[in-house]
Parts: sequence; C-alpha cells; structure tokens
Amino acid sequence: MSQAQVQSETNVMMTPLRVGIAGLGTVGASVVKILARQKEMLTAKTGRVIEVKGVSARGRDKDRGIDLSDFTWFDDPVALAASAEIDVFVELIGGEAGVALASVEAAIAAGKSVVTANKALLAKHGVELARAAEANGVSLAFEASVAGGIPIIKALREGLAGNAIERVYGILNGTCNYILSRMETEKLSFAACLREAQELGYAEADPTFDIGGFDTAHKLAILTALAFGTTIDPDAIAIEGIETITLADLDAAAELGYRVKLLGVAQKTASGIEQRVHPTMVPKSSAIAQIMGVINAVSINADAVPELTLAGPGAGGEATASAVVADLADLARGLQIAPFGIPAAALTELQRAPLQMHEGGYYVRLSVYNRPGAAAAIATRMAEGGISLESIVQRNMAGGRGKATVQDAVPVVLITYATHEKTIRQALDSVVADGYLAEKPQLIRIERE
Ligand SMILES: NC(=O)c1ccc[n+]([C@@H]2O[C@H](COP(=O)([O-])OP(=O)(O)OC[C@H]3O[C@@H](n4cnc5c(N)ncnc54)[C@H](OP(=O)(O)O)[C@@H]3O)[C@@H](O)[C@H]2O)c1
Repeated sequence: MSQAQVQSETNVMMTPLRVGIAGLGTVGASVVKILARQKEMLTAKTGRVIEVKGVSARGRDKDRGIDLSDFTWFDDPVALAASAEIDVFVELIGGEAGVALASVEAAIAAGKSVVTANKALLAKHGVELARAAEANGVSLAFEASVAGGIPIIKALREGLAGNAIERVYGILNGTCNYILSRMETEKLSFAACLREAQELGYAEADPTFDIGGFDTAHKLAILTALAFGTTIDPDAIAIEGIETITLADLDAAAELGYRVKLLGVAQKTASGIEQRVHPTMVPKSSAIAQIMGVINAVSINADAVPELTLAGPGAGGEATASAVVADLADLARGLQIAPFGIPAAALTELQRAPLQMHEGGYYVRLSVYNRPGAAAAIATRMAEGGISLESIVQRNMAGGRGKATVQDAVPVVLITYATHEKTIRQALDSVVADGYLAEKPQLIRIERE
C-alpha cells in the first residue's frame, strides 16, 4: 500500500461515524445513553468516534431523560434518513410499514447504512431491503431485532459460518416465558399470570401479539433466513399461542419430566423447512428448559457444533440498545457483510414443509367420560394409526388441579413415541367421534433435545 493510500485510510478511520436516530423511546433513548457512556471505549475499539448528529421522534418536548441539545432535531424521520449530516440511519420507531419502512428505504436510497431493531419490518420486507442495501453498497444491520441483548444474528451469520445448520429453536418472547414460568412455579392460572405480567409492564394492554405467538413468529422468520439461506416467508409459519395451556398441563408435564415453553422452531426436513411456533414440551434436563422468567434463549444444532444455546435478556432498553450499538461498532470498523450472510440474490426460495408432515412425540390430555369401553376405544384408535404410546396416565382426581372440569369425566394423559402430525390428528378425530370425550383434546408437541 502506498503512503498516500495509508494516509487516506487513516483519514477515514479518524472521521467520526455520523449517526441519525429515529425513535427515542425505550430503545432509542438507551442507544443515546450507551453511546455517551461508552464513547471512549467504543472509540478505542473501533478507531472512530460514533457521533449522534440528528434525532427524530414524535414529541420534541417530551422528557426522555437524555440531553438532545447537541443533536439536530428532525420532525420527519424520512428527512433525517436522507440528511447529508449522517452516514448511518438507526430506525427505532417500529411497525412493518409507514414511516419506519419509508425512512429505511430513504436511507438506503441515499447511500446510508441502516441499523434497525424492527423485527416486524424485517419479517415483512427484509429480503427486498437487503437487496436494495446490497445494490447501494450499504449495510442493513439488525442484531437487535431478535432476542434483544443476545447476539444471535452474529452467531448464525458469522460465528457459525462454517456449519450446516439443522435446527434453530428458542424462547423468543419474554412475556410468554414469564407467564408459563409463573404458572408452573406459583401454581397460578394463565389469566392471573397475564394480569401480573401486564402490571409489571412485561405484557401490553392488548397482549395478543405476544401470547398468540405472532411476535415469536416474526423473530423466527428472520432466524430461518439466516440459518438456512432462504427467503423470508412469515406466512409459512404455523402459529399457536399459549392461551390454551392450563395448570393441568404444566402439572402433568412436570410429573412426566417436561416443562412447557413457547418455542419458535425452524428445522430442515426431507420435505423442506419446517417453521412452527407453539407451546412445546421440552425435557426438564434440556438447556432450554432451564430458562425461566422474561429471559430469552436460542438453541442451534449444526454439523460441526452439535448443540449451542445462548441465553440472556431478550428485551428492555439497555439490552436491546446493546445490540444496536454493536451494529454501529461494526459499521465504524468498516465491516460490511451481506445482511443475511449470503447475497440476497442467492437466498433460495423458502420451501415450506407442511405441519401435517411434522414428526415427533406428542402429549395428549383427554377428558374422558367414566364409561366402560372408553379406555379400550382410545387404545384402539391409537393402534389403528400405528401410534405407540410411551405412557398413559390417568390423572389424580384428589388434588383439584388434575381434576377434570366436567363431572363424570377423568383426565387421561398420553405420551406418544414419534409419529406424524397428520396421524395423531386423525386418531384424535376418531376418538372425538367415538363420543367418549367431555372436552376438546389438548395436544402439545414434544421437542427432542
Ligand atoms: N422495547 C424493547 O424491549 C424492544 C426489544 C427488541 C426490539 N424492539 C424494537 O425496537 C423498536 C422500538 O421499540 P421501542 O420499545 O423503543 O418503542 P417505543 O418506546 O414505543 O418508541 C418508539 C419511538 O418512535 C417514535 N415515533 C413513533 N412514530 C413516529 C413518527 N411517525 N415519527 C417519528 N418518530 C416516531 C416515538 O416518538 P415519541 O417518543 O415522541 O412518541 C418513540 O420515540 C421496535 O421496532 C421494537 O419492535 C424493542
């Protein structure tokens, strides 16, 4: 390298990385704080000063606990995104469309790299935004979009670059894990734990997005693309929430050596990529079963690294801002990687494996009328489907929690060996048609370690 080239590179490194931040809420305000608090350390690590130049939010006069006097205020995030004052645009507004999408598109079009925490935006538009970023020679970084403070994007994209990934699964929603943990440890109902989560600020007033599994699905869609090099298709994800989980299920799970977790699972199968979000029985001894409360965790199975689990805070201002700042540090260092690890044009079309083809063990809880022939009829239906039972337990009536909610009905719990979703569903339809059940069967998939 010539002296002139060395001098020019040194000059670039000495130039501050000028940042514009749109959205100064929970995450945005924390990013401003961390950049100020760790300014010297970040400069030492990256060789450049990361300097906030412009900011945008809705309310200019709102007290955010941060001093904005050194920054240029923009009423319009799109104007900030295109401003000549900045090199990098940080989108922390949220939402899959509207101003979040418009400002990210404007930034990329103006040749600015983008950092975002917006999983909804990425699940919907991630691939097209990656294409645009690559075409414009800029970065699209989104470490904060999945599992907050856990560096899972980097782990999948860079740390495990030499691996063929077989499965990635995790607890990606702290609200659901908090509710299920409290139900199990405090023996409280789903409704009581949801109320508690709302009082503590872990759950929204309308909790559907979290407890219905939709938030987990957005994050899973992003992880799938990174793990398997596919395009993103959130509509290809089978989604079930945790609303139907009862104390009876958690008690039965505990007795049988399992815990119930809301998991997002993406797995390579012979028929394509299976993507599903649902309450799942996990062996109590597994790493993922140890994760209690609002914590998130992601496990990966790969060829060279058979099992890896990362756990940590999945949300909250500081933890999420930590991931945003890590992306900014990469940009300051000049690190530019295709957003999904391989060029967007090389992502393969996601081939969806139908849930009906899912193969695994199942937990089935039946509320069976106490009539002669009922047990035999259930056993016959299972045998007709070729379903082998690992265990069959008639639940204790004495304790109250195991009690059937319908009089004259007995709770029966079955654990099956591996079978297909289609097969167990057909068998249960037949059991229902036989007329021995007082309630709809409860079915929970078991995830192998
Ligand atoms: N909170 C977390 O723990 C967490 C974790 C992971 C990822 N994320 C993601 O991070 C992003 C931000 O989340 P957050 O929790 O920080 O949200 P938030 O607290 O609701 O903050 C949103 C910010 O966006 C601003 N905003 C909204 N509409 C705007 C508009 N039209 N123009 C300009 N500014 C606008 C708001 O302005 P005002 O303050 O003036 O109202 C506010 O500052 C979302 O994509 C979210 O999914 C959050």
